[in-house]
Amino acid sequence: MHLPNTPHAVLAAAAFALLLSACGKAPQADPEETARAILPVGQVAIEKVKVEPGKRTGEEIVTAVCGACHSSGALNAPKTGDKEAWAPRIAQGFDALVQAAINGKNQMPARGGAADLTDEEVARAVAYLANQSGASFEAPAP
Ligand code: HEC
Repeated sequence: MHLPNTPHAVLAAAAFALLLSACGKAPQADPEETARAILPVGQVAIEKVKVEPGKRTGEEIVTAVCGACHSSGALNAPKTGDKEAWAPRIAQGFDALVQAAINGKNQMPARGGAADLTDEEVARAVAYLANQSGASFEAPAP
C-alpha cells in the first residue's frame, strides 16, 4: 500500500539529509593528531648532572664516596691523614691497596659502595687517600 501524497523519493531524500547532518555533528578525532598533541607529556628530559664516569679525580671521589668512612673513621676505617693507621697498609704497596679497594675488605665495601667507579678511578682515590696519610703513590691521570 502506498501512502497518499508521499512519493518514495521525498522520504529517501529526507533520510539521506538526516544521515549527512549526523555525520557533520560528530567529528572524529584524528588519532595521529591526538598522539602528536600528547607526545610532550610522555617524554621525560634526562639531565646530565654527574661528571662523566671514568673522568673523576681522586679528590672528587674521596669527597663524594670514600670520605664517608675515611674522614670519620666509621666502621674503623683508617682515617685520612692518620699516618700511623695507614703505614702498615701503605707498606703493602699501591697495587695491593687498589685491589683491596676494588674488591672490598672486611667492612670496606667493594669500590667503597660506588659500583660505577672504574678501576682507574678507584686507583686515583686510593692514591689521594694514601698520599694524605704518608704515601707518595702516583695516581693514573684522569
Ligand atoms: C662504608 C665505609 C667505607 C667506605 C665508603 C670506604 N671505605 Fe675504605 N675502608 C673501610 C674500612 C672499614 C677499611 C678497613 C678494612 C680492614 O682492613 O679491615 C677500609 C680500608 C681501606 C683501604 C686499605 C685496604 C688495605 O688493604 O689495608 C683502602 C686503600 C681503602 N679503604 C680505600 C677506599 C677508597 C678508595 C674508598 C672510596 C672509593 C673507600 N675506601 C671507601 C671503609 C670504607
